[in-house]
Amino acid sequence: MWKHSRLLELLKLEHPIIQAGMAGGVTTPALVATVSNAGALGTLGAGYMTPEAMKEAIEEIQTLTNRPFAVNVFVPEYPKATEREMKHANELLNPFRDELGLAEEPSPEIDKSLFENQIEVIKELNVPIVSFTFGLPDQEVIQDLKGEGIILIGTATSVEEAIVNEKSGMDAVVAQGSEAGGHRGTFLATNEGVGTMSLIPQVADAVKIPVIAAGGIMDGRGVCASMVLGADGAQLGTAFVTCDESGANPHHKEAIVHTKETETVLTSSFSGKPARGIRNTFIDRMEGHEHELLAYPLQNALTKGIRKEAAKQHNPEFMSLWSGQSPRLSRQESASKIIMSIVAQAKRINS
Ligand SMILES: Cc1cc2nc3c(=O)[nH]c(=O)nc-3n(C[C@H](O)[C@H](O)[C@H](O)COP(=O)(O)O)c2cc1C
Repeated sequence: MWKHSRLLELLKLEHPIIQAGMAGGVTTPALVATVSNAGALGTLGAGYMTPEAMKEAIEEIQTLTNRPFAVNVFVPEYPKATEREMKHANELLNPFRDELGLAEEPSPEIDKSLFENQIEVIKELNVPIVSFTFGLPDQEVIQDLKGEGIILIGTATSVEEAIVNEKSGMDAVVAQGSEAGGHRGTFLATNEGVGTMSLIPQVADAVKIPVIAAGGIMDGRGVCASMVLGADGAQLGTAFVTCDESGANPHHKEAIVHTKETETVLTSSFSGKPARGIRNTFIDRMEGHEHELLAYPLQNALTKGIRKEAAKQHNPEFMSLWSGQSPRLSRQESASKIIMSIVAQAKRINS
């Protein structure tokens, strides 16, 4: 039924549908396994996970499915901030902390061995597929993983980034359009954000490796359309945030279901890196201060306490409510039903 089969062969799937790895607790082992058991590719969003938490989650996935699954990790960055910059970034956040009854946090420390330890867990537990965002790891890591027979998927937001992915040895590349929910994977020159419709055919023309479309795709129409544009499959994030097996905070799920396509924005205010989420009070109040924020992941560490406490206090106005630009197409049902209806819709379109 599917027009292209090389991604299906590469990843050993029945359907060219990938559930995005979404860091922060969305991608429970139950979600990953349900998606993989339905013939698509489930992905554990392990970006923020300690090696121990990652190990536990992967072992649970392995008890729930015999099918291929992926683990998504963040290529690390180690920015510096002066004491003055740190103080100022904290001053911007203190009014939010005051409202939540939180004290200012000590300066964040970045764990420089996290990525290396995550890679060790991936190797130790024979994870079949690994995807990266925020750039590409060193050749040493790439060759090491390839040597273990692990399939590698990178992320690109421009043709240039897709070419760099291919040259570095990635087996496939996610082309992430500007509609996408969550963080932009941009790692070369910053770009304004190229939409999925423009990005996919241009990336497909420029690289030989399979291209996976991402950004605003929620149903069979979107998956088929991206394949007509030259993609070999599609990666969906927002569509799975609202599903039954997702570990997203209930306020996050509710916000997506009730959001309009005009209500998401790109903001760096939560993490120091542009990400698409539903506009709320935190984003509004931080607007205009983009140049005063710390770089990712320092800003992310500074806002962590606020986001966590806001969730605890049921205050979605101070939470990061990541969503792509197609929230009206979101559904609250099982991930397996979401995949079944994508497949049924694609069958009707392709018949
Ligand atoms: C809540 C959320 C968290 C995300 N976290 C990650 C992540 O940890 N790693 C990653 O590569 N992409 C992440 N993304 C981006 C997805 O990989 C994908 O590009 C995006 O979801 C596609 O757009 P859509 O949300 O409209 O489907 C996230 C997206 C969302 C919505």
